[in-house]
Amino acid sequence: NGSSVLVTGGAGYIGSHAVLALLDAGERAVVIDDLSTGLQAAVPEGVPFYRASCGDTAMVAKILQNHAVDTIMHFAGSISVAESVRDPGKYYLNNTVNTHALISQAERAGVLHFIFSSTAAVYGEPRTIPIEEENATLPINPYGRSKLAIEWMLRDAAASTSLRYCALRYFNVAGADPAGRSGQSTREAFHLIHVAVQAALGRRQGMDVFGSDYPTSDGSCIRDYVHVTDLAQAHVDALTYLRSGGESLTCNVGYGRGYSVLDVIDVVKRVCRVDFDVRTRERRPGDPAILVASNAKAKSILRWRSCHDHLEQIVQHALSWERQLKFGVPA
Ligand code: UFG
Repeated sequence: NGSSVLVTGGAGYIGSHAVLALLDAGERAVVIDDLSTGLQAAVPEGVPFYRASCGDTAMVAKILQNHAVDTIMHFAGSISVAESVRDPGKYYLNNTVNTHALISQAERAGVLHFIFSSTAAVYGEPRTIPIEEENATLPINPYGRSKLAIEWMLRDAAASTSLRYCALRYFNVAGADPAGRSGQSTREAFHLIHVAVQAALGRRQGMDVFGSDYPTSDGSCIRDYVHVTDLAQAHVDALTYLRSGGESLTCNVGYGRGYSVLDVIDVVKRVCRVDFDVRTRERRPGDPAILVASNAKAKSILRWRSCHDHLEQIVQHALSWERQLKFGVPA
């Protein structure tokens, strides 16, 4: 239809997979990314790229107009729970304040749809598992609060303008493009599967497990690990849903199955066929014990179908990416 999707953070880990999913679906994409963690090499050839913050209103206004943007997929933001506890101001600025600027520009330019990278961290320490979208949102760290505030802004913006949105609450994203076109390339990536694969490849000396006294079967935290390609597809499904007139929606994206940190490390050791040191450490501040999604809403409303719901496959794809590392640097 001649319109484009603006992907903020499109040079980053999840954003670059979303760009691939959009191109695979025959869509036009434009990327804005300040390259604070992303890499320009992650943006496929032929996709217009602007190096700027999504809080740069003049730049965003120009892009929205010049590329006839009807939809914004908003990935740009800071994502570390631990860092948000140390430096909350960074999270309120990079996430909440910059997104306020982006939403304002979207409203001014008459953008129709906004698809937002929200997070399971908005739930805090959930009272029931699996977590449904109607569960209370009581985040226990600044990261979760900085994202929940954005959900509120979107809800209010949608109530007062014609903007419609999908807030996708991601659970733990991992893996890499099965065709090897993209993967985790952030230098300081700290996520469990990434760290464990680095340890398996000998790029770091073993790894730490944060907490051994959580109220779980083995004492380590439980998470719902979702393949980045399935997550990217959820954004394309959200685009189809909004374009066909769907109402604004807040929706979990996870598989509905939990693995403990120790389970994940075992799978990584098995898939990589190597052993490495695992040290037990104190709990990491801001970590909830258990996060597992109900994905009924994604399946029924977005018609999301998972294709890579398999922890071994997630680890295998992360490993393949790390072995060839088309761009990015080994940790
Ligand atoms: N962990 C370790 N050692 C490590 C890295 C992680 O033990 O070296 C543990 C963490 O303590 C946690 C689990 O592995 O228990 C997962 O940690 P990650 O850092 O991989 O991910 P988080 O669960 O902290 O957070 C991620 C995203 C958030 C999102 C959340 C939702 O970064 O944006 O998943 O489940 F909100």
